[in-house]
Amino acid sequence: MRYATLLSLALAPSAALAQNSTFFAGLVSALTNAGLTQLISVTSMINGTATGQEVLSDISNGSPYLLFAPNNDAWSNVPSNFTSSVTTLADIFSYHVVPGNFSNVRTNYPNITLGQTLYNDSATVHLEGNKPQVVAWATRNDSMTHVLNQKNDSTVVNTTTFGNLTIFIVNQVLQVPEDLEDTIPTNSLDAFSTVLESATLSFYNSSTNTTGDVTFFDAFNTGFHGFTLFSPDDAAVNASNSTLAGLAGNRSAFNAVLFNHAINGTTLYSPLLTGSQNYTSAGGETFSFKINGTGQYVTLGNTTATIVQPDVLLPNGVIHIIDRVLLDTDSDASAASSALSSATSAATASQSSQTAPIGFSITSSLAAAASSAASSASAAASSSGSSGNGAAALGFNAHNLLGMAVAVVAVVFGGIITVF
Ligand SMILES: *[C@@H]1O[C@H](CO)[C@@H](O)[C@H](O)[C@H]1NC(C)=O
Ligand SMILES: *[C@@H]1O[C@H](CO)[C@@H](O)[C@H](O)[C@H]1NC(C)=O
Ligand SMILES: *[C@@H]1O[C@H](CO)[C@@H](O)[C@H](O)[C@H]1NC(C)=O
Ligand SMILES: *[C@@H]1O[C@H](CO)[C@@H](O)[C@H](O)[C@H]1NC(C)=O
Ligand SMILES: *[C@@H]1O[C@H](CO)[C@@H](O)[C@H](O)[C@H]1NC(C)=O
Ligand SMILES: *[C@@H]1O[C@H](CO)[C@@H](O)[C@H](O)[C@H]1NC(C)=O
Ligand SMILES: *[C@@H]1O[C@H](CO)[C@@H](O)[C@H](O)[C@H]1NC(C)=O
Ligand SMILES: *[C@@H]1O[C@H](CO)[C@@H](O)[C@H](O)[C@H]1NC(C)=O
Ligand SMILES: *[C@@H]1O[C@H](CO)[C@@H](O)[C@H](O)[C@H]1NC(C)=O
Ligand SMILES: *[C@@H]1O[C@H](CO)[C@@H](O)[C@H](O)[C@H]1NC(C)=O
Ligand SMILES: *[C@@H]1O[C@H](CO)[C@@H](O)[C@H](O)[C@H]1NC(C)=O
Ligand SMILES: *[C@@H]1O[C@H](CO)[C@@H](O)[C@H](O)[C@H]1NC(C)=O
Repeated sequence: MRYATLLSLALAPSAALAQNSTFFAGLVSALTNAGLTQLISVTSMINGTATGQEVLSDISNGSPYLLFAPNNDAWSNVPSNFTSSVTTLADIFSYHVVPGNFSNVRTNYPNITLGQTLYNDSATVHLEGNKPQVVAWATRNDSMTHVLNQKNDSTVVNTTTFGNLTIFIVNQVLQVPEDLEDTIPTNSLDAFSTVLESATLSFYNSSTNTTGDVTFFDAFNTGFHGFTLFSPDDAAVNASNSTLAGLAGNRSAFNAVLFNHAINGTTLYSPLLTGSQNYTSAGGETFSFKINGTGQYVTLGNTTATIVQPDVLLPNGVIHIIDRVLLDTDSDASAASSALSSATSAATASQSSQTAPIGFSITSSLAAAASSAASSASAAASSSGSSGNGAAALGFNAHNLLGMAVAVVAVVFGGIITVF
C-alpha cells in the first residue's frame, strides 16, 4: 500500500520540473526488479526539495551516471536522523550519484577510484572553490568492491544498468564525510590529534573578520577550506614522541613540523600523488611522491613515509594516513604563500564538472603501463617478498608516456573507460 502510493507519486506527470517522466517510469521498474523499493520511496521523498529536484533532473537527462543504490536492508539500518529531515536525505542521496561513465572502471586496492558526486551543499561541503564532495571505492582482496573509509563498510553486492545509468547496489547507505573530530575514532589518529591540539596558529576568521590563535586541531577540524593532511598514525607519533616533546617549547619549530604535514588550499586525492608532480607544504618545503611495487610514498626533507591509508575524506579536505612523522623543522614562508596563492587561483578558476575518475590520466597511464610491465612486476613483487604494510603489490611505471597517450585517446573516442 505504502509503495503503491509512492510509485504513483513517482509516476505523476511533471510540468514544472525538468525531469524526464518516461525515464523515471523505466527507472522505477528497473529498481523494482532489483528489489530496491525503499530507494524508490527515497526518490519520491526528496522530490519535494530543491536539491532533490536538481539531482533527479540531472540523472534523468540521458547522460551517463553512476548510482550507488542502497538496498532495502541498508535503508532499514540507517539511524533515524538520516531520514527524519528530507533536506538531509536529499544531500545523502546526492552523495550517491556520480556523473560519468564508470561502468568498466575497476581498481584493486590500494589503487583507488574517486568520483566527484553531486553532493555540494555549501552548508556542509567546504572544499576549495566550492568543489563537490567525492566518493572513493576499490576492489579489495575479497573481490568485492568496497566504498572506502566509511564508518560502516559498504560493499557493492550486485550491479545493474538502466539506460546510461550504472547502478551499484550497496549494502549500506553511504555516509557523507564528517569533521576530523568525528573521523578520528575510526582511523587511529588519536595521537596526532593530541599533537594538533597542543599547538596553535594565527587564524583569520572571515565570518567574524578577526584574527586570533586557534589550535591546529580546530583549524583542520572546521577552519581551513581545502587541504591535504598527511597524518602519522598512532604508532608513528609514539615513535617520535620524545623528539616532538623536545620541540614543544619552540613554537616556530614545532609549528613548522605541523605545517610540513599539510598542503594548504588544495585537496589532493591519492591518484594525484604518484610522483609526476611535487607540491609545496604549508611550511614551504617540497613534498615528493612515489608509487612502486611496494606501496605509495611521500617524502619531505629527509623523511620518507608510506601512505598506509589513503583518502580519508573530510568535509573540508582529505587525510592520508602515514607511518612516520615528517620531522622537518625547516620552513620557507614565501614558498608557502606562493603555493597557497596558486592553489587559490586554481580553485577559483571556473571548473567544469568532473565526469572521469579523479587523476584519471595518471591512473590509466599506469594501467596501460601495467599490461606491458605486468609479468616483470609480478616477478619483482614475488621475489621481494611480502610488503609488510598491507599495501599490495602495485608494480607499474608511473611515467609511461605511451600509456598517457592511450589514455587521452580513450577519453576522446571511447567514452567507456577501463582501468584494471
Ligand atoms: C517529482 O515531482 C514531479 C511533480 O510532482 C513529478 O512530475 C515527478 O515525476 C516526480 N519525480 C520523481 C522521481 O518522483
Ligand atoms: C526520456 O527518457 C527516455 C528513456 O530513457 C528516452 O528514450 C527519451 O529520449 C528521453 N526524452 C527526452 C526528452 O530526453
Ligand atoms: C547515453 O549517452 C550517450 C552519450 O553519452 C547518448 O548518445 C545516448 O543517447 C544516451 N542513451 C540514453 C538511453 O539516454
Ligand atoms: C546522526 O547523528 C549522529 C550522532 O548524533 C551524527 O554523528 C551524525 O552525523 C548524524 N547524521 C546525520 C546525517 O545527521
Ligand atoms: C544480481 O542481479 C541479477 C540480475 O540483475 C539477479 O539475477 C541476481 O539474483 C542478483 N544477485 C543477487 C545476489 O542479488
Ligand atoms: C575587517 O576589520 C578590519 C580592521 O581590523 C577593517 O579594516 C576591515 O574593513 C574589516 N573588513 C570587513 C569586511 O569588515
Ligand atoms: C608522549 O610523552 C608524554 C610525556 O612522556 C606523554 O605524556 C604523552 O602521553 C606521550 N604521547 C604519546 C602520543 O605517546
Ligand atoms: C620533486 O622534488 C625532488 C626533490 O626535491 C626532485 O628530485 C624531483 O625532480 C622533483 N620532481 C618533480 C616532478 O618536479
Ligand atoms: C592556509 O592559508 C590561510 C590563508 O588563506 C591561512 O589562514 C592558513 O593558516 C593556512 N593554513 C595552513 C595550514 O598553513
Ligand atoms: C619502493 O620505494 C620505496 C621508497 O623509496 C623503497 O623503500 C622500496 O624498496 C621500493 N620498492 C620497490 C619494489 O622498488
Ligand atoms: C637532512 O640531512 C642533512 C644531511 O644529513 C642534514 O644536514 C639536514 O639538517 C637534514 N634535514 C632535516 C630537515 O632533518
Ligand atoms: C594498480 O594499478 C597498476 C596499474 O594501473 C597495476 O599495475 C597494479 O597491479 C594495480 N595494483 C593492484 C593491487 O591491483
